[in-house]
Amino acid sequence: MSILAIDAGTTGVTAVVVTPDGRIQAKGYQEFRQHFPQPGWVEHSAEEIWQATLEATREVLTKVDQSELTAVGITNQRETVVLWDRETLGSPRRAIVWQDRRTADICDRLRADGHEDRVAELTGLRLDPYFSGTKLMWLAENEPHTWALVESGRYAVGTVDSYLIARMTRGTWHVTDVSNACRTLLLDLVSGEWSDELCELFGVPRDALPDLVPNWGEIAPTDPAVFLGLSLPIAGVAGDQQSALFGQTCFEEGESKCTYGTGSFILTNTGTRVVRSDAGLLSTAAWRSPDGELTYALEGAIFVTGAAVQWLRDGLQIVGNAAETAAIAATVDDTDGVVFVPALTGLGAPHWDPHARGTILGITRGTTRAHLVRATLEGIAFEVRDVLETLPELTTLRVDGGAAENDFLCQLQADQVGRAVERPEIVETTALGAAFLAGLGTGVWGSTDDLRDTWALDRRFEPGGDRAALDASYARWTDAVERSKGWAD
Ligand code: G3P
Repeated sequence: MSILAIDAGTTGVTAVVVTPDGRIQAKGYQEFRQHFPQPGWVEHSAEEIWQATLEATREVLTKVDQSELTAVGITNQRETVVLWDRETLGSPRRAIVWQDRRTADICDRLRADGHEDRVAELTGLRLDPYFSGTKLMWLAENEPHTWALVESGRYAVGTVDSYLIARMTRGTWHVTDVSNACRTLLLDLVSGEWSDELCELFGVPRDALPDLVPNWGEIAPTDPAVFLGLSLPIAGVAGDQQSALFGQTCFEEGESKCTYGTGSFILTNTGTRVVRSDAGLLSTAAWRSPDGELTYALEGAIFVTGAAVQWLRDGLQIVGNAAETAAIAATVDDTDGVVFVPALTGLGAPHWDPHARGTILGITRGTTRAHLVRATLEGIAFEVRDVLETLPELTTLRVDGGAAENDFLCQLQADQVGRAVERPEIVETTALGAAFLAGLGTGVWGSTDDLRDTWALDRRFEPGGDRAALDASYARWTDAVERSKGWAD
């Protein structure tokens, strides 16, 4: 009895097999290409996401006994929009990724037309290119031939979860869940249903959208002919950040986590209430149980954290891999005055400026690679502090994601925010959450209490350092953030 969980993230797909004691037995991974057709634009080939899913799954299947698998759980990068032909399952164009800023002008236009308050009231979100709605509007306005086939019913519209479910079921199922749907700007957050008013505002035909299913339970069966011979129930699905909240067993109101991935996302469970923030946090659905109960969260979405390290590796080519950044940063005592605001795709929470761009200040002739690497890690910790400043009641931060393995970053984070940082034994919490959902959906675990018992602390980082110096460096950061804003206006 074990679960196959697939985490289709922004830069690659991870497949893991999770055993009933909540351990990761085996793992497969496949990175896929990032396409940057214009400054500020980010696209993925849907076909490459599917092929990476097959490849990562193939890899993990070589390491386990397939007959032990009982269900599949899926989690995914959110907000990214995918179109596909309902017959052939081919995509007429590349997916527009959550990081893509091309709709900043559409957002400005909708704001000027007075729609922001109503959109925020209905969705818990704001008018920002991050979310799917304006990406779909852009497609309708700029690629009318493609859009005509959406309107005729030939092309389906969805997020990565619904695309993968369509591929795994050979086009039989077109479904999604509230944690993904609530990021499209098309879902009424309180009712948890698609909103006709919002579909009309963004010009999206309701029939093109997936049907809504609970986050766990019987969702759809995989078709062995297209999914590596596997005939399994898809029994859990959630957007990656809500999945990580579930994987960290943050089931109670007030429980929170921060996941360090491509971006970093701090979510606080707010129970069955939609809590609204006036400090730049989003209200979001966390999950819906099979009996229909909705759980909500407050979210601080930071767009670029791990992606800044990836940029050091692939763009600047000054590090060989993410893991070595800790050792490189530790070779210098400080950044020697360098501050890096990694607003490479604009700024998310709590600043929300799609026109901001990456900014490096304080470079001198003495600046070295180590200073820049250290400034990158500090930038990540500062970004998270910006969000935590809006959540004063949060005393301990549970962290996960790839960069949570970086002790240097965890300590820096604890020092900067002046609160303890707790790292669980398993930091692959996003995939774990999808496995938990699927296991709950098939009776591998009877209740969330069983899941809670599987959480184990690896290390607690206590806050330390010179408070005055830490606050002074944070003040310099705040100044640099202001300078990064509006650059791409
Ligand atoms: O909202 C975007 C988020 O879902 C992407 O997550 O893990 O790929 O950074 P990640």
